[in-house]
Amino acid sequence: MSRPPFDEAMIPLRRLFNVEENQTGGAWSVQEFRRRAADKDGLLISGADRIDGPLLDAAPRLRVVCNVAVGYNNIDLDACTARGVLATNTPGVLDETTADLTWALLMAAARRLPAAERFLRAGQWQGWKGDAFLGMDVHHATLGIIGLGRIGQAVARRARGFSMKVLYHNRHRLPRPVEQELGATHVTFARLLRESDFISLNLPYSRAAHHLIGAKEIARMKPGAVLVNAARGGLVDDAALIAALRSRRIAAAGLDVFENEPELNPGFLELDNVVLAPHIGSATRATRLAMFQLAQKNLVAALAGKRPPSLLNPEAWANRRQIRPKN
Ligand code: DGY
Repeated sequence: MSRPPFDEAMIPLRRLFNVEENQTGGAWSVQEFRRRAADKDGLLISGADRIDGPLLDAAPRLRVVCNVAVGYNNIDLDACTARGVLATNTPGVLDETTADLTWALLMAAARRLPAAERFLRAGQWQGWKGDAFLGMDVHHATLGIIGLGRIGQAVARRARGFSMKVLYHNRHRLPRPVEQELGATHVTFARLLRESDFISLNLPYSRAAHHLIGAKEIARMKPGAVLVNAARGGLVDDAALIAALRSRRIAAAGLDVFENEPELNPGFLELDNVVLAPHIGSATRATRLAMFQLAQKNLVAALAGKRPPSLLNPEAWANRRQIRPKN
């Protein structure tokens, strides 16, 4: 286990296995992680831990890596499959919580809440002013969702409560009944950029989606639009976004994820039209517990020789590694 989870989530694991926990409160260095993984049969990891060929080669007993996250761009799946190592994630248990945070970012960016709060806390409030902190209406505006999967759909349901028009772009169009239930219209990427007042990214990161939103795409957005990203860093070119926020080409952004986390492009800190959060999309106690419990189920199943419920690389199953006796 590379991060200390809630104690109650660890109790069943401690009963079943000899568990080594990272109690440092932070991440192990790459070298340290590799050294610790060397004699392990399974790893329970966070999305910030990188699983790649060199780590797998350093861990010849390893049979399963279990992400406590739905996103798995931290895991080199091909490298796992090539070595017969199973990989799992935690889909389904964090959708609503992540959609809540997406919505909080959207609302806070639209209504300039953090800037208004900073102003108030700094003792600068002299009284009501007709033009103070004018924001954007969320209700009846157009929301464009890129990636209408489980989390995107939960965001779309929230938008309905605000009487928004919902556009979406997916590589594959959803079945009509799903579109109807969500009140969402499938459009081209170009149209979504052109017509949306708010754009929410809810797709996984992949190399193909790297810098999906860069200077060119921002130039095609509605002037004064708001961009929200609670999905993954790297989907947005942070430097291009900073330039667009600085010039007010777009009105605001709400961000929970960044390129090169936990490092932050310092340009963001100089702007008052961006709401920043430190990757807390799934951060409620109930949801984090549910994520740990699902990750645990995956781990226990795999180490018992059973197919884990959220296996990411089913093609590895037939050639999965078998138990090796300890030297
Ligand atoms: C996820 O589950 O992918 C969240 O971003 C937490 O890392």
